[in-house]
Amino acid sequence: MRSIKSNELRKMWLDFYREKGHTIISSASLIPENDPTVLFTTAGMHPLVPYLLGQKHPGGTRLADVQKCVRTGDIDEVGDNSHLTFFEMLGNWSLGDYFKKEQIAWSYEFLTSEKYLGIDPEKLSVTVFAGDEDCPRDEESASYWEKAGIPRNRIFFLPKEHNWWGPAGTTGPCGPDTEMFVDTGIPACSSECSPACSCGKYLEVWNDVFMQYNKNAEGKYEPLAQKNVDTGMGLERTIKTAQGVDSVYSTDVFLPIIAKIEELTGKKYGSDEATTKAIRVVADHIRTAVMIIGDERGVTCSNVDQGYILRRLLRRAVRYIKVLGGEKGLLSKVAEVIIASYKDVYSELEVNRDKIIGEIDAEEERFEKTLNAGIRKFEGIRTHQVGDTISGKTAFNLFETYGFPIEMTIELASESGLKVDMDGYNAAYKEHQAKSQAGAEQKFKCGLADSSEKTVKLHSATHLLHAALKKVLNDPNVSQKGSNITEERLRFDFNFPRPLTAEELKEVEQSVNDAISANVKITCEEMTLDEAKKAGAEAHFESRYGEKVKVYTMGEYSKEVCGGPHAESTGELGHFRIVKEQSSSAGIRRIKAVLE
Ligand code: SER
Repeated sequence: MRSIKSNELRKMWLDFYREKGHTIISSASLIPENDPTVLFTTAGMHPLVPYLLGQKHPGGTRLADVQKCVRTGDIDEVGDNSHLTFFEMLGNWSLGDYFKKEQIAWSYEFLTSEKYLGIDPEKLSVTVFAGDEDCPRDEESASYWEKAGIPRNRIFFLPKEHNWWGPAGTTGPCGPDTEMFVDTGIPACSSECSPACSCGKYLEVWNDVFMQYNKNAEGKYEPLAQKNVDTGMGLERTIKTAQGVDSVYSTDVFLPIIAKIEELTGKKYGSDEATTKAIRVVADHIRTAVMIIGDERGVTCSNVDQGYILRRLLRRAVRYIKVLGGEKGLLSKVAEVIIASYKDVYSELEVNRDKIIGEIDAEEERFEKTLNAGIRKFEGIRTHQVGDTISGKTAFNLFETYGFPIEMTIELASESGLKVDMDGYNAAYKEHQAKSQAGAEQKFKCGLADSSEKTVKLHSATHLLHAALKKVLNDPNVSQKGSNITEERLRFDFNFPRPLTAEELKEVEQSVNDAISANVKITCEEMTLDEAKKAGAEAHFESRYGEKVKVYTMGEYSKEVCGGPHAESTGELGHFRIVKEQSSSAGIRRIKAVLE
């Protein structure tokens, strides 16, 4: 394989697909606009879902891009040599255009041609779908691989667990895939060894998804009218292989970031395990934080949703820069290097430079304050401690109230000859996690920025608006596609093919204000989702709901499954006014409204 730098790979990818008649599109925002089921864009296909489902894309039926992605399911794993919270995905799409034959031939060309990746064909293995009750065995893909030059003994048939790709939420476009692997030279772990194995012999470089189905809310696979191709190649992982290094942190993407951390802290990457891990955590987390804050729809730290993930990343980075002996204010210096190395690819980072630097410094400052308060609290605990073990509950309280990491509590305790009841701490932590997860998900679904009185009223008005739109537009298919509510205004996205007329907007306003004048009580009942549907409640994003759901009823006007919170009666809301109606994306309209 040729040794390729990250900039070269991005360019090579786009050039290759441009030559094959593709339109190059720019990366979408990291913060999804119309998908309330996930916090961040997690794959290149994600912003393209409406087009994979059949909407026309202005760029045509062949698209390619480099997409910014964030996956935060495994923040605590970061520090080993492969987990990253931010990565770039090289992707290409056929929207009902070419299918398996062309894609597999091109994949082989891109992987093996000296003009592109130049991988020795002998080192390539592929996997294809083995078939099950939902979709047949993918002999077709296997035959195209064979034609391209991969012998049968390097084509592996694997079940859905390995060779099927669905979207981040549980519903949406999906299908069988074929994955491509490079032999790392590590000997096979057994005679059963295959790319499904994690022994390290096979390294995945690319995934071609043949998207032929839509998984609906009942979990059924409906064939899609248009057959699509969706492919994804992880940039960091590919250049790691191309540069022949053992970790993504030793590629040209991370080298300048790591050099800066070394310079700032005086510690050497690779000198020992703890130092290496700490440097990796700081490098990864600050890179992701820069991307989240600097995004065109960037956010700042908060206690909910994307802002909460950002806070976790930054606070974890603060802890690890401390492990490296770093002083306050160094993280934003690391951020400067990241902005500099990515500004030509993502110009928004340069535009948002002050915001990025300011937010990183501010969060460090805020964390520092709670930490100091926590240390004083700890002193109090220590003085009054009976016995030699601090209870799990007390340790958890330090974490929850003061953002006090457990590692630090243990360290401080041991300095005073004390232990911490870790079983008790873990139990308290698990309980809290389950509760806050449920809370965060509920809140997120409704898109509330906070639970202040004004926000809550606007949230109730959003339900009335939703019902009014259905009524006035006389279209049962109109439904919520996104919602975001702050103290100042509500923002509601819904599917509708054209702008609303002035009369329609007036009628919608009138209908909401009628419901407000009627001053009906807002009541809440808990029931199963089935019961809620039977009761005629509006229920979107249903696949994510747990057993029991809350149904909020506003007299005859609205009945909707929702996590709350809401006002007590509609009369409290005041006068409802639409300030703007505009397009949000293809087929999606957006209304901004206020209460006066
Ligand atoms: N959607 C597939 C993936 O994320 C291919 O792009 O791997």
